[in-house]
Amino acid sequence: MKAEKLVEGFWQQLLPEGGIPRIPLSELKGLVLCGMGGSGIVGSVARTLLLKRGYEKPVVTVKDYDLPPFVKDGYGVVCVSYSGNTEETLHNFRQALERGLPVWCVTSGGKLEKLAREHGLPVALVPKGLQPRFAFGYMFSRLLLMLGFTEKELKDGAEFLRAEQDGLKKLALNLAERLYGFVPALYATPLTAPAAHRWKAQLNENAKTPSHDAVLPELHHNELMGWSNFLLRDKFVYLLFKDPEDHERNLLRAELTEELLKELGHNPVVLEGKGETLLKRTLWLINLGDWVSVLLAGLYGYDPLSIPLIKQVKERLEHA
Ligand code: F6R
Repeated sequence: MKAEKLVEGFWQQLLPEGGIPRIPLSELKGLVLCGMGGSGIVGSVARTLLLKRGYEKPVVTVKDYDLPPFVKDGYGVVCVSYSGNTEETLHNFRQALERGLPVWCVTSGGKLEKLAREHGLPVALVPKGLQPRFAFGYMFSRLLLMLGFTEKELKDGAEFLRAEQDGLKKLALNLAERLYGFVPALYATPLTAPAAHRWKAQLNENAKTPSHDAVLPELHHNELMGWSNFLLRDKFVYLLFKDPEDHERNLLRAELTEELLKELGHNPVVLEGKGETLLKRTLWLINLGDWVSVLLAGLYGYDPLSIPLIKQVKERLEHA
């Protein structure tokens, strides 16, 4: 299927059929969400939403081989890998078993499904045959249900996005035209950081564009000094992500960031998700970024689905 069709149909991925295992969150001491790249971002978005709704235990994302040492008795581990063959995530899975921890998996198959079945562990299956980043909605909706979000919340989000498609595509074309020929600098607030990071990865993979993201308030303590470089600062287009539920000081900082960039002669794009819940606003921003990335790929003449270097690295590592 063409990338544009996949982005347009993103909302449909948010309507999983039943039979999704639930994670007994209240019985856990903490939760670890493992996964890389297009699967890893699923955990990052879910973490922000879970904590925002008041889950009181530590929730950590792991995008590396080793689980942190404190991840032991009482922790639960979720392994998300679309292919089920990602070596870092398989290593996390094995380590979790060695430490005697309960594990849940979200995958389309591969070694992860096989291992999980061998150990009698719960698996939420997603449809096969897609590239991981274009299956975000499938993995994300299943993970949210595992974490106690409701089917109604997902259905509402899906219907909302369906109605937004024309507007999203129009806005995305405008943004893609602004980004053409520049490096996108994506500046986020803590609540929008996962969506901005998804944008970064989609711009990298689909539009073959280097991109950079940084998060407030930390970016006020370093990043902004880079703008002093008159030779380099004009190579970026600055996008500022924010959410009405962010800490008021971060919202003030977002406005200040906009002001400072304008004083340097830049015209930053301010992006706030649409919708009355953080879940909807996050999905809206993600769908917008997906649109921007495939339309920008079109402007450059790239195939958004082609990722030869990522494949090459995996192949070389397999034989190393
Ligand atoms: C490919 C993509 C990659 C993969 C990553 C991990 O579409 O986005 O970032 O997601 O290499 O592979 P999986 O998702 O199969 O665990």
